[in-house]
Amino acid sequence: MRKITVRDFFKLKEAGEPITMVTAYDYVSAKISDEAGVESILVGDSLSMVIQGNDTTLPCSIEEMIYHTKLVKRGVKNAFLIADMPFLSYQVNESEGIRNAGLLLKAGAEAVKLEGGREVADLVKKLSCFGIPVMGHIGMTPQHVHSFGGYRLQAKTEESKKRIIEDAKILEEAGVFSIVLEMVPVEVAREITESVSVATIGIGAGPFCDGQVLVFHDLLGFYPDFRPSFAKAYRELYREGVEGIRDFISEVKGKKFPDEGHSFKSK
Ligand code: KIV
Repeated sequence: MRKITVRDFFKLKEAGEPITMVTAYDYVSAKISDEAGVESILVGDSLSMVIQGNDTTLPCSIEEMIYHTKLVKRGVKNAFLIADMPFLSYQVNESEGIRNAGLLLKAGAEAVKLEGGREVADLVKKLSCFGIPVMGHIGMTPQHVHSFGGYRLQAKTEESKKRIIEDAKILEEAGVFSIVLEMVPVEVAREITESVSVATIGIGAGPFCDGQVLVFHDLLGFYPDFRPSFAKAYRELYREGVEGIRDFISEVKGKKFPDEGHSFKSK
């Protein structure tokens, strides 16, 4: 497989070939996803939950995102690497937003993702002017969890549906190369996908997006606390891990490990 660039998001949408994206947070998760052949890897601020054990994505900092982006970068060969801008890294003022996005690129990201519609359009324009590709994120934006009153389906009413479609068009106009649509009804995601020229990447947004993204730990069944209903687990690695470690305990207690094959002898 060859190196994927931002241009492939447009080419794949045009060709009608679904785009795949998976989150990664360190060298090994990046290497697994890259070797499997996903087109893009996202250093998601979901690391706040699945790596750090917080309840929301709000606590993680720009310094932590930079650190994890550096780890992921070392494991990526071909996939296009996007890093999330965490809560408060772009909301305070534009200069901070530009500087923090730039720091993520210095750490190895090839693009940044930020949450919001019309309220981030000016920043998206600036970042694009400075050569920083931006991915938008609308619908259930986890940094708004407290104002939404939980992780809930968005764009359910006619009014909110109209607003999210307008937001997608505003983001396209501002210069995003792609937009994540999270937890919106299938028909809304379809209408957005058909009305913008940039690729839509869905998560809990049905099959009519230009691509799909899943959190690494959900996809591989690695996160024990919560699994969203829209996330399909293709493996059960958490259970596998517990069983593997139980086998180790049992062999040590039964004096079966280490055996000859796992020990050194002097000549
Ligand atoms: O942080 C994250 O993992 C994300 C994806 C769910 C799109 O934003």
